[in-house]
Amino acid sequence: MLWLPGVDLKPFSVAWQSKKQFGLAVIKVGPYTTELFKIKTGERLGFNGPYGNGYNLQGKKLLLIGGGSGLASVTFLAQAAREQGLAVDFVLAAKTADKIIYQSWLEKLGVKVYHRFQNQKYERAWQLIEDLAEQNNYDAIYACGPELLLEKIVDLALLKKIFCEISIERYMKCGIGICGSCAIDPLGICLCQAGPVVSAEFAKKITEFGKFERLASGEKHYFKK
Ligand SMILES: Cc1cc2nc3c(=O)[nH]c(=O)nc-3n(C[C@H](O)[C@H](O)[C@H](O)COP(=O)(O)OP(=O)(O)OC[C@H]3O[C@@H](n4cnc5c(N)ncnc54)[C@H](O)[C@@H]3O)c2cc1C
Ligand code: FES
Repeated sequence: MLWLPGVDLKPFSVAWQSKKQFGLAVIKVGPYTTELFKIKTGERLGFNGPYGNGYNLQGKKLLLIGGGSGLASVTFLAQAAREQGLAVDFVLAAKTADKIIYQSWLEKLGVKVYHRFQNQKYERAWQLIEDLAEQNNYDAIYACGPELLLEKIVDLALLKKIFCEISIERYMKCGIGICGSCAIDPLGICLCQAGPVVSAEFAKKITEFGKFERLASGEKHYFKK
């Protein structure tokens, strides 16, 4: 949870880490991120956490998929996988070329990167993911990105019986299970603690998965299919 004094506290994923540093990858989308982009070296920025759970690395050949603001959580996983010598194919789904970040860094780590620019329904990325899953024997699939794409990935993994974990974004205010803003239907559990990473099997138990999320007020926001 990244704290910009006087502005807000918002959830972000660690995108990479070294012995002394860690990095975040932030997309400017609204008031908080606009203020965050103005921050200069020497100004104050704080964080709590990390909270929730992370991915469980399994197998030797992995398919990682990152889209939009979900990219950071899987780039960090790619780094961890390469440090363990695992083979990683990475699908980077972005809306435009300027949103393709970390490609050369991933390639330097030895990751095979594929990217697809998106139309509204993420059909191009989906086609690529289906083709890759058909042509390769992946031991595991990990993904974070637009929920309608995550829903398809979960169904594909369950059908092909491939171990799969996804990271689901919900509105998070505290990050520690107090405010309830990230509670999911029908389980009522808080995704900031029980997630954001869940297994494909667990995702199927969330009835709102792929249907709606809740806004800051708690009001439902339905995904456009
Ligand atoms: C677990 C998790 C990890 C995330 N990791 C990253 C990341 O690595 N990089 C990145 O760019 N973004 C990430 N996000 C999304 C990021 O938190 C929002 O983009 C940011 O809070 C937007 O704030 P804003 O005021 O600029 O925009 P707003 O105009 O307030 O919102 C723009 C969009 O961001 C969503 N959002 C706003 N506030 C929150 C919140 N408190 N919790 C969840 N979603 C919110 C809104 O629902 C809306 O879709 C992550 C979200 C979650 C839940
Ligand atoms: S963000 Fe407050 S309970 Fe999850």
